[in-house]
Amino acid sequence: MARCFVTRRIPGPALDRLIEAHDVEVWPHRLPPTPEELREHVAGAEGLLSLLTDTVDDALLDAAPELRAISNYAVGTDNVDLDAATRRGIPVGNTPDVLTDATADLAFALMLALARRLPEGERDVREGQWVTFEPDRNLGVEVTGATLGIVGFGRIGQAVARRAEGFGMEVLHSARSGGVGLDELLERSDFVTLHCPLTDDTRHLIGARAFERMKPTALLVNTARGPIVDPAALERALHERAIAGAALDVTDPEPLPADHPLLRAPNLLVVPHVGSATVGTRHKMTELAVDNLLAALAGEPMPHQAN
Ligand code: DGY
Repeated sequence: MARCFVTRRIPGPALDRLIEAHDVEVWPHRLPPTPEELREHVAGAEGLLSLLTDTVDDALLDAAPELRAISNYAVGTDNVDLDAATRRGIPVGNTPDVLTDATADLAFALMLALARRLPEGERDVREGQWVTFEPDRNLGVEVTGATLGIVGFGRIGQAVARRAEGFGMEVLHSARSGGVGLDELLERSDFVTLHCPLTDDTRHLIGARAFERMKPTALLVNTARGPIVDPAALERALHERAIAGAALDVTDPEPLPADHPLLRAPNLLVVPHVGSATVGTRHKMTELAVDNLLAALAGEPMPHQAN
C-alpha cells in the first residue's frame, strides 16, 4: 500500500479503486491547498493526484522525496514542472481525449453566445427591457459561413474544426506543425479560438500586436489557458473596439477577482473554467487519472504519460 494525496474531491466512482488499493488522503475543502499545505500533505506520499490549481515545482518535489508518481487531473500540464519531475524519474500523467468533445462544445457555445449576444439579451429579459419584438435590437452576427481561425490544432482544435464544418465555416488553423501563419489567421478570421497549450512560447501570444491584426468585428474565444491572452491588452482592445468581443473560459489570474478591471470591459463574456465540466467527462477524467496513478505505483507505464 502506497501513501497517496489527492488534492481535491473528484467526481465519479473511479476514485474508490484508488482508495481500495492504497492509503489515500483526499483534501476535503472547496479551495485547493496552499503551497505550504500541499508541501505538508505530500511529504511522505508516494502518489500525488493533482489538479490544475496545484503548482508542482522543484520546491514541492524537494518536499516529497518518496514521490513515485504524479497524476494530473487535466489534459494541460502547465501547472507541473515536467522537467523537474523527469529529472527525478517521476512519471506525470494527464487526461487527454476524454475532454476533447466537451471542450470543443464549449468553445462553440461561447462563440454562438457572443455572436448572438445571448448574455445581453438575457439581461434585457430579466431587467424588463424586452418590451416587444424590435427589428433592430439585439442584432448579432452570423456564425454560418464566417471564417474561423483555430490557434493550435491538436485534438481539441481539430474537434472544433469538425463542428465548424456543420456551420459551413471557412476554417483556418495555425499550429507549430502547419496551417497558415498566425498573422494571416488573425487578419482573416471573423472568430479566433485558442486551443494551444500554455508554454513559454504561447504566453501572451494574443497581446497588443495580435489585437492590431484582428478585424474590428472579430470575436475571440479562449478555452485553453488564461495567460495565452495578455489581459491588459485585451481590456484595451475591448474598450477601444479594436475587436468586437471576447469570451473567456480561462483567465489570468484565475479566478478573476470580482473587481478586476477586465470585467468592466464591454462585450466580454466570462465563464468559470467549465470546458470539461460535464458529468460524463469529469467521471472519465477521474478514471484516467486513477488509472495513471495505479499503473505507475505498480511499476507499470501510465496509460497517458506527459513527460
Ligand atoms: C484541462 O484538462 O486542461 C482543462 O483545462 C480542465 O479540465
